[in-house]
Amino acid sequence: MQISEPKKPQVVRTVTEVRALVRAARREGRRIGFVPTMGALHEGHLSLVRAAKEAANFTVVSIFVNPTQFGPQEDFAQYPRTLEADLQLLAAYSVDAVFAPSEQEMYPAGFDSWVEVGAIAAPLEGRCRPGHFRGVATVVLKLFNIVQPDIAWFGQKDYQQALVIQRMVADLNVPVEIRVCPTVREPDGLAMSSRNRYLGPDSRQKATILWQALCKAKQLVAAGEKDTAVLAAQLRSMIAAVPGAQIDYVAFVNPQTLAPVRRVDRPVLVALAVRIDGTRLIDNELITP
Ligand code: PAJ
Repeated sequence: MQISEPKKPQVVRTVTEVRALVRAARREGRRIGFVPTMGALHEGHLSLVRAAKEAANFTVVSIFVNPTQFGPQEDFAQYPRTLEADLQLLAAYSVDAVFAPSEQEMYPAGFDSWVEVGAIAAPLEGRCRPGHFRGVATVVLKLFNIVQPDIAWFGQKDYQQALVIQRMVADLNVPVEIRVCPTVREPDGLAMSSRNRYLGPDSRQKATILWQALCKAKQLVAAGEKDTAVLAAQLRSMIAAVPGAQIDYVAFVNPQTLAPVRRVDRPVLVALAVRIDGTRLIDNELITP
């Protein structure tokens, strides 16, 4: 008996090619689903692909390590690039097209237009990574204009990013529906991330502190603690006790505006950014009192 291998998805490298595929699908009346990624795919990404496959009948995944969202001292050069393995993973989902453009295709000589999202992009990641959301918003708007999807999927793991994209889509009348999927975690709670590949065994163990801190926040709130200064101090001391852990922020914020919250009287977002032995990790959780 012959077992047929799942077919690797069609990879296209140019704007012209992906537009032709999408145009043909649309002529057949198909609904276009889109999952933008930077590759090094894991179960978090694949959960978005599954959601897309359920709601749409032509699914495009983009894989592009976007240089404009990395700061000069950040990990653009090191960022894992694993296209062959990514295509193997996507084969199981019969994705209709993978758009994997070159840098030149996305940013040809003379490129000089940018999307700046306002207040929602300013705190948290925006403060720690100046220019990051300008790069994200610009590349995502370009990808939306290239693929012209009906629906696009993002992960709650990058909570602020999803808000930034929703703001941009609303403000600039981009005809796409944004859907956000829950964070996919390892069995020990660590949020899946392409950057987890940077962690050696010892650092990987220490990285569980982010999820432990989020769980601690939940427990304390459940036990009646409402003062976010007290909560933040507890989380900070817990994280600081891990050797090699360096806190960028521990924030209790309004889930819609990301403005700081003093008391947990209604749902609050706890957002963390922590370097573990130099690898910067983020995580978040919504807490309802
Ligand atoms: P990347 O980090 O590859 O993530 C692609 C999408 O997968 C994002 O929407 C992200 O939130 C989601 N994702 C990552 N880890 C996840 C997890 N553990 N659970 C659920 N979803 C998860 O985010 C980017 O790329 C880029 O900024 C991009 C939007 C592609 C623009 O360059």
